[in-house]
Amino acid sequence: MTDIQFHDLHSSRDEFSNDVIAGLSQRPATIPPKYFYDTRGSRLFDAITELPEYYPTRTEIGILTDNAAEIARHIGTGSLLVEPGGGSCAKIRILLEGLHPKAYVPMDISRDHLRVAAQELAVAYPWLEIHASCTDYSREMRLPPSAPNGTRVAFFPGSSIGNFDPAHAIDFLTAIAELVGPAGYLLIGVDLKKESSILQAAYDDAAGVTARFNLNLLTRINRELGSNFDLGGWQHKAFYDATQGRIEMHLMSRYGQRVTLNHRDYLFAEGETIHTENSYKYTTDEFIALAAQAGFQPQALWCDDEQLFSVHLLRVQTNSPEDSPNHNAAIP
Ligand code: AVI
Repeated sequence: MTDIQFHDLHSSRDEFSNDVIAGLSQRPATIPPKYFYDTRGSRLFDAITELPEYYPTRTEIGILTDNAAEIARHIGTGSLLVEPGGGSCAKIRILLEGLHPKAYVPMDISRDHLRVAAQELAVAYPWLEIHASCTDYSREMRLPPSAPNGTRVAFFPGSSIGNFDPAHAIDFLTAIAELVGPAGYLLIGVDLKKESSILQAAYDDAAGVTARFNLNLLTRINRELGSNFDLGGWQHKAFYDATQGRIEMHLMSRYGQRVTLNHRDYLFAEGETIHTENSYKYTTDEFIALAAQAGFQPQALWCDDEQLFSVHLLRVQTNSPEDSPNHNAAIP
């Protein structure tokens, strides 16, 4: 028997409209990357994850597969597995097989994506309780009231943490630490710093899928908010800024133009951009230091042989000696 509970806390059209108006009103103009993921955007993102240039997804899947048994040994069975942004089906399946949690709570802003992912998992794992929560997890993270007790484990793969700037990443990790509570775990995938040509190609692929993903944001704004962006007037731009340690994605205006949204005009000069995404890259030490500021202690770390990608197992610090990683060590 399948057991799915669906809780809808989806953000409203007003919130989308307010965020876009605020973002277009500032210079440089910005639009938050969470709005990439309408139905077409989610499909394009799935296509990105299969591109030859986009190494993070297959590399992380390889790390999780190779180390699933060891991850399960650290965490144990019967936990409550929470996945902000849940829908990364291939990855969660690797964990479900090894961890055998009591319940799984996927949280995602994209209602359709979440519903399909939850239904597929319910069929594949009839023993698993699924409590799907449609929510903007970057704003609020709460467990649905129906979620059972158990060791809480948050799973945040895909280096989505890189889409927050470091200060917001600490806030987000702090919210995860509060969600999982003392001695709770976080298993998180983090893209590593590396040669810029590899990074550049991953965000500006030869087939132009990332360009379509970026431009789809304007299609979505036209459709849902009634603006008149001329799609032919904008160009995808992605580059690695080594000083900031991040890929930046922009939409660049090909010529001087005026865009109308909600009875207001926004002027863009030729070459002016709308900044649509940052994707920060971290060394393993940089990320451990960042997570420590949110109250997490490192438990284990896995990387691929080429040092492209990292998966960290972190645990919320407690004051209890039993929960510390060395609690079996002899005290002199
Ligand atoms: C979802 N996120 C981790 C992706 C990334 O790599 O920053 C989004 C993405 N943007 C362009 N390609 C992929």
